Amino acid sequence: MGLTNNGKKISAEDHARRVRDMFARISPRYDLLNHLLSANVDKRWRRAVTRKLSPLLPPRAQVLDIACGTGDLSIALFENTGAQVLGLDFCRPMLELAAKKNRQLSFIEGDALHLPFAEGAFDAVTIAFGLRNLSSVEGGLEELRRVLKPKGWAVILEFSKPTVPGFRALVATYCTRLLPRIGGLVSGSRNAYEYLPDSVSRFPDQAALAELMRDAGFDEVVFENLTGGIAALHTGRRTYE
Ligand SMILES: C[S@@+](CC[C@H](N)C(=O)[O-])C[C@H]1O[C@@H](n2cnc3c(N)ncnc32)[C@H](O)[C@@H]1O
Repeated sequence: MGLTNNGKKISAEDHARRVRDMFARISPRYDLLNHLLSANVDKRWRRAVTRKLSPLLPPRAQVLDIACGTGDLSIALFENTGAQVLGLDFCRPMLELAAKKNRQLSFIEGDALHLPFAEGAFDAVTIAFGLRNLSSVEGGLEELRRVLKPKGWAVILEFSKPTVPGFRALVATYCTRLLPRIGGLVSGSRNAYEYLPDSVSRFPDQAALAELMRDAGFDEVVFENLTGGIAALHTGRRTYE
């Protein structure tokens, strides 16, 4: 994905810094806005991740939740799968909020594009609404795969492309007109909520992301649409080589 800001090319480092600063700015209102702007549907989407992953995990599984933010998915995974879950994010204010919600879990600072783990360290990795924010989707997928044990599972939850044209137009209008206004008013950072639909529009759709996963070395890649394709859940298994 070409990195641009208002049409100007920016470096991967610049991109990361901007994204980190943006999430730091909106962190105090991040959870509230997630629930408000999605009418609480975001909770259902995260539950879909735990439902999907739960039957795939071995006993005492080690799961890495990448770009965990304020920790909602890490906590849901921990509470509903019995796995040991580690949350990782590169934005400290988001991690501090995660740590306050659950003292049993470990949340660590790290970059999704340079994960501080050895190859094959985890039984499963998850990333919810994080992949889209990386300076390189391909680089992110490579790292996901690298830290997975052979045959380990990756589950990706991300905004996607609504499948029905009329509904797609409605969602686009909501995301470009209403969402930045509400997001701006509540968080004080309209930019962040303009970035959201913008980054979604540049992100690969369902089929394209599945293809990128296969290219990155995942097998058994499948996806399911959530809420008419507003979001999608992709699952893939690290190939054994
Ligand atoms: C939209 S939030 C998603 C948070 C959480 N997974 C959720 O479902 O609410 C995106 C998160 O990705 C993190 N992030 C973006 N780029 C990252 C990177 N390169 N390394 C680690 N975290 C990153 C941000 O700091 C932010 O917390």
